[in-house]
Amino acid sequence: MPKKIKRNWYVPKDRPITDFDRRILSYQNRGKLVPSPKLIKTPEQIEGIRRSGVINTGVLDLVASKICAGMSTAEIDRMVYDYTVSHGAIPAPLNYEGFPKSVCTSVNEVVCHGIPSEDEILEEGDIINVDVSTILDGYYSDASRMFIIGGKTTPEKERLVSVAKECLEIGAQAAKPWGFIGDIGKAIAKHAHRNGYGVVRDLAGHGVGNEFHEDPEVDHYNTHKDGMLIVPGMVFTIEPMINMGTWEVFVDEEDEWTVVTEDELPSAQWEHTFLVTETGLEVLTY
Ligand code: MF3
Ligand code: CO
Repeated sequence: MPKKIKRNWYVPKDRPITDFDRRILSYQNRGKLVPSPKLIKTPEQIEGIRRSGVINTGVLDLVASKICAGMSTAEIDRMVYDYTVSHGAIPAPLNYEGFPKSVCTSVNEVVCHGIPSEDEILEEGDIINVDVSTILDGYYSDASRMFIIGGKTTPEKERLVSVAKECLEIGAQAAKPWGFIGDIGKAIAKHAHRNGYGVVRDLAGHGVGNEFHEDPEVDHYNTHKDGMLIVPGMVFTIEPMINMGTWEVFVDEEDEWTVVTEDELPSAQWEHTFLVTETGLEVLTY
């Protein structure tokens, strides 16, 4: 049986068919996975997501200016909450599917979804991912950065942090309008594996903007599949999690959130929210 692919695209009733429709329909008719019309953001939605992204970037810049050894991850959480709320926005993680804090803080072997805590004190040489997501006027943005506490760590962890950043950049360069989401993971996996690193498979980038998590799923490893057609007006994240050792991870049974590397070797992640333009990707979270 040939695999059935969902026919996501249709011509909205309130307007005549355009060349843009025809172009997407031609992919769909050849059996490719295409976006649904609601994944193509209107200019008004793009402006909203962009403004949300400005606050999101402000949060990360604030964290960058304050983060240091001796600080608890709960202090980072308070900083994120206060800045976000005082700028008229809402931290998207807070109460999201029961997540108890305003930001994810993931230290060393924690891959992602680390929960800020008074008991977790940052030490020199720690590497930490701070993952910030913001809702402004109903529009979502999502980005994360790595920080090296005290500015210096082991050469091995320093290299992991910079290769993970290169993976995000290389993934973003691989994404082209009228290309496929699968091109992103292919490029990322190649770079990570050349450096001897594992690429996490259990968590993916995602469409974002009108909701926290939308289609498409953006895998960071080589799935050997095309994935969804990339079309101007789509907004999604790329957020590769790169492990020093194995790609395998587990979820902490007690808090049901914290994702940890199976071998407990360090992991690093960088993330941006991107708009697909006629020529490539534009970062909405600088
Ligand atoms: N910010 C994460 C992402 O990049 C999502 C975190 S979900 C939360 O998609 F509930 F843990 F915040
Ligand atoms: Co994300």
